[in-house]
Amino acid sequence: MKVIHSILELRSILKTQRLEGKSIGLVATMGALHQGHLSLLTHSVAQNDLTVCSIFVNPIQFNNPEDLKKYPRQEQKDLDMLREGNCDLVFIPSTDEMYEQTTMIQFNFGHLETVLEGEFRPGHFSGVGVVVSKLFNIIQPDRAYFGQKDLQQLAVIKRLTVELNFPVEVIGVPIMRESNGLAMSSRNLRLSDSEKETAAQLYQSMLKTKDLIASGVSFADAIENTKNEIMSLDNLNLEYLEIVASDTMKVLQNAHDTTDVSICAAAYVSGVRIIDNLYLKQK
Ligand code: PAJ
Repeated sequence: MKVIHSILELRSILKTQRLEGKSIGLVATMGALHQGHLSLLTHSVAQNDLTVCSIFVNPIQFNNPEDLKKYPRQEQKDLDMLREGNCDLVFIPSTDEMYEQTTMIQFNFGHLETVLEGEFRPGHFSGVGVVVSKLFNIIQPDRAYFGQKDLQQLAVIKRLTVELNFPVEVIGVPIMRESNGLAMSSRNLRLSDSEKETAAQLYQSMLKTKDLIASGVSFADAIENTKNEIMSLDNLNLEYLEIVASDTMKVLQNAHDTTDVSICAAAYVSGVRIIDNLYLKQK
């Protein structure tokens, strides 16, 4: 496994590989890797001749400077995990390497960025759009793997890829969870064991919402019921809980509106923000 810090060097290696007819898979991350990231890596290694994993804590997608400062970093451990997972190339650029000049470009994803995460993290998806576009241009992957854990991010990246004609197949990979149901996340490193149990209740509540809907309860009633239940829990502060169309993130009133439906939620546990989602209906 080769570790590369320079865009020029990465481009030159990949050019040679491409000329030899090798297919390239990309797994973009911000490091502090866990089994969720490794699942993306496993998919990429299985489907491509060569896998590039990027580790870059992208400052322009953080709307909260404290969150950026506290973002966990563990480069050596990450490299060990990637080696173990058969990654071929790791791209770890410095902030100066990625942003030689202050970014002037901003994306506006319209409705997709004003709801859910977008509403609570202004500018976040623009920052994601910029860095993913840069990675697509630098690496020119055939396939890029993103987790369904960040369902809205996946929708934004799919839209970006179509609208800007990136010749990349964007592949969504299912959520990896801890045994208690908590969706794996780098931010979980900031939670104690008991806080992780509290955080897992968000998923348990979403499962109950799904059951209520399956038993014929309306979306609105199921959501209200779940919100009340979460509000009665100590230490779990709900930010949003909505039922949406998985591709457009439009809030839905009933199951007939679309064929691909998800419950999406965000909450704080002891100051740490967690997000999760659950498919209600999939195409
Ligand atoms: P990061 O949070 O490091 O996540 C990198 C990738 O891993 C994302 O596609 C994310 O959805 C996926 N992932 C995280 N937890 C997962 C889990 N429990 N199961 C499955 N996949 C999971 O998302 C980002 O970084 C950044 O926004 C990035 C796309 C790299 C742009 O900076």
